[in-house]
Amino acid sequence: MNIAVAQSGGPTCAINASLVGVYKEALKTPQIDAVFGSINGIEGIINDELVDLKLIIKTNEDMELLRQTPSTVLGSCRYKLPDVDEQSDTYKKILNCFEKHRIEAFFYIGGNDSMDTVAKLSDYFREHDVHIKVVGIPKTIDNDLPVTDHTPGFGSAAKYVAATVQEIIRDSSVYSIESVTIVEIMGRHAGWLAASTCVLRANDEIAPHLIYLPECKFTSEGFLEDVRKQQAKHKAVIIVVSEGMQIEDTKSLRDDSVDVFGHQQLSGIGKTLENLVRENIGCKVRSIELNVMQRCSSHICSKTDIDESEQIGSSAVKAALSGETGKVMVFRRISDIPYVVKIDSVDAHETANKEKFFPKEWITDDQNDVKEKAIRYFLPLIQGEVKIAMKNGMPVHFKLK
Ligand code: F6P
Repeated sequence: MNIAVAQSGGPTCAINASLVGVYKEALKTPQIDAVFGSINGIEGIINDELVDLKLIIKTNEDMELLRQTPSTVLGSCRYKLPDVDEQSDTYKKILNCFEKHRIEAFFYIGGNDSMDTVAKLSDYFREHDVHIKVVGIPKTIDNDLPVTDHTPGFGSAAKYVAATVQEIIRDSSVYSIESVTIVEIMGRHAGWLAASTCVLRANDEIAPHLIYLPECKFTSEGFLEDVRKQQAKHKAVIIVVSEGMQIEDTKSLRDDSVDVFGHQQLSGIGKTLENLVRENIGCKVRSIELNVMQRCSSHICSKTDIDESEQIGSSAVKAALSGETGKVMVFRRISDIPYVVKIDSVDAHETANKEKFFPKEWITDDQNDVKEKAIRYFLPLIQGEVKIAMKNGMPVHFKLK
């Protein structure tokens, strides 16, 4: 038999590590002949654009380099699989591609939108008595996939945003004048990544002085009052805000257009808050949007994240070979200290198109910070450093020839 793997959604530092996990496990499995990579997610299956991974991962050095290279080596997509009654042709094309290449198991590495594809495709195969296994491998820097304790890719993004905010704290503290610095962090409708900057407190930083998440109640008046209170204590106030924050009473600078899943491009809240501070407080103010840098910042990735991402990829292959289909692999946390997780699988419908929000009980009563418990949750996920391959003083990335 052959198997296929595809990568989907926004990039992370760890998606290629999961691909390597799938590939290595397949190499150890005598009944698997070839592993095909699909170009641009499920679109590559629909359009029959597959590449035999042994043609691109030729040596152990290639494998190690790919494992630590951010983004998606096979490309990605934001493609919504239509409902089968609307467009059964697409499903037939997928089936034809799998049959043509003798593919008996398909692994889809992606976030909650991609798990929709896993659920729909496995339902279709079951209904049509097709014995091809479909298993989802989670990833997203947003950490918003239900059931799993955390998502592959999140720990590395968290490590980068915390380290970057720490550098911003040092930078902002040099002048004698008052200033406000607002850092906008990704995360769509869930504030996990913005909240993760609280780990700095484990290293005795006081900042960020304010952390705002989409799960917080927020008004511009309350925000200005919070800033003034912090200014009474700190010359340079550092604020972290999650891109998905909604301000009830102020028009945000966001673009209203949406993608196929109905998601708006969320950037702009930092600039909106910067303008509010300028107009109402009048001190030096700057907003910094970390933007896509937080997705592919492998130079400071978390070893725990990269190792776990590879392990969850290899567990997906084992799950499919033992007969599982329509499943998504998940992490279950057994303990924080010592940090122990086990890998499990759940029905893909439990995660498809669903979001897991930052727990309300971990947000402080005044809705502008997170509690100690969050630090305990985040810290294990950012542990360890990967020895990054360097050339001419810069990280080396694996590239498709
Ligand atoms: O991958 C997650 C995410 O980065 C979100 O935080 C963000 O809102 C979204 O993807 C935007 O991604 P893109 O512009 O690449 O579609």
